[in-house]
Amino acid sequence: MSAGPVGVAIVGAGNISTQYLNNLTRFPDVRVLGIADLETARAAAAAREYDIPTAGGLDSVLTLPEVEIVVNLTTPAAHAAVALAALAAGKHVYGEKPLTLDPAEGEKILAEADARGLRVGNAPDTFLGAGIQSAIRALDTGLIGTPIAAATAVQGPGPESWHPSPEFLYQRGAGPLYDLGPYYLTALVSLLGPVAKVAATARRARERRVIGSGPKAGTEFAVEVPTHVTALIEFASGAGSASTFSFDSPVGGRMIEITGTEATLSVPDPNTFGGPLLIRAATEADWRELPLHGTEAGRGLGVVEMARAIRAGVPHRASGAVALHVLDVMAAIIDSAAEGAFRSLTSTAGRAPVLPPGWDPYEATL
Ligand SMILES: NC(=O)c1ccc[n+]([C@@H]2O[C@H](COP(=O)([O-])OP(=O)(O)OC[C@H]3O[C@@H](n4cnc5c(N)ncnc54)[C@H](O)[C@@H]3O)[C@@H](O)[C@H]2O)c1
Repeated sequence: MSAGPVGVAIVGAGNISTQYLNNLTRFPDVRVLGIADLETARAAAAAREYDIPTAGGLDSVLTLPEVEIVVNLTTPAAHAAVALAALAAGKHVYGEKPLTLDPAEGEKILAEADARGLRVGNAPDTFLGAGIQSAIRALDTGLIGTPIAAATAVQGPGPESWHPSPEFLYQRGAGPLYDLGPYYLTALVSLLGPVAKVAATARRARERRVIGSGPKAGTEFAVEVPTHVTALIEFASGAGSASTFSFDSPVGGRMIEITGTEATLSVPDPNTFGGPLLIRAATEADWRELPLHGTEAGRGLGVVEMARAIRAGVPHRASGAVALHVLDVMAAIIDSAAEGAFRSLTSTAGRAPVLPPGWDPYEATL
């Protein structure tokens, strides 16, 4: 087993890459050795800013022998091809969500990794943040009694107002379910365990949308996926969730509530790493804030955790298995909406153990 920092290459130098770069260049566990993009000038600009030795196209980073993990930050339609290319080059892969466009592609990636003795990790890693980790500990210590039900909602007018290239967010592999659903579903699976079956309705308010910012502002594009999805989710534990995912609401809002036999937990926004985490029992007049413990370092935590797990020879937490189960749940939600019937899940995934205290060396200074 090798020692020292784990060499990392980033593929996809777009919008989200700066959050990863800010984090991955500050943790001592990893060293960013290369960055690639179809638009090589974009990769070169990031390399200059973050002092990364190699920049170029995909091959330029896959051939670097010291790179052990390829971090795949491309758009969803490219996730599978880039992940398979990285595995073929003998690299572990960690990708942005969703794992792939459909479960069959995801299964292929996990099988390929298994056959080569390589790892697949996947976003979201927000469930490793102090907010969701503290919520998991609250459930595990019985603060709300036995979990019975969840209610989740994420709704707003859609990302075309702020994202300069939002077209992919309305294509296969995105929409509110595939783009934001992974945060909510990964948090639910981390809190309540695997999903057993789902039922859903899905629709879209508009066939075309208009880009609201950046050089393409004013350009119209087509909407290819449902933009308002309502799902009933039954977990293997017997708990159930009513969950809404929408880009069709003029009113923004996000919530996850878990109700148990003794109290309800209001879990922080799972698209963030922090709080607030609130609890309220039937006997209490108002919500009470619970203390948070853990890291709020931000996107890239899952990569750092995977790097440490590689060096320690133990399983990593933001796993391909969870990402595939979540992808399966999303595909089943869409199928159920089309068929008008419950869909049972064939995949499953275990809950990752909570991170130990002091896991993030920067925790105290955050
Ligand atoms: N933007 C956000 O706020 C956000 C937040 C969390 C997660 N994500 C996820 O991150 C991923 C990327 O999103 P983004 O907003 O950064 O998109 P983006 O369009 O801004 O950037 C994607 C980059 O990938 C490059 N790319 C595409 N295909 C490629 C390929 N085959 N090889 C090399 N480079 C390729 C593009 O040229 C582009 O620079 C998506 O999966 C998205 O769901 C985005």
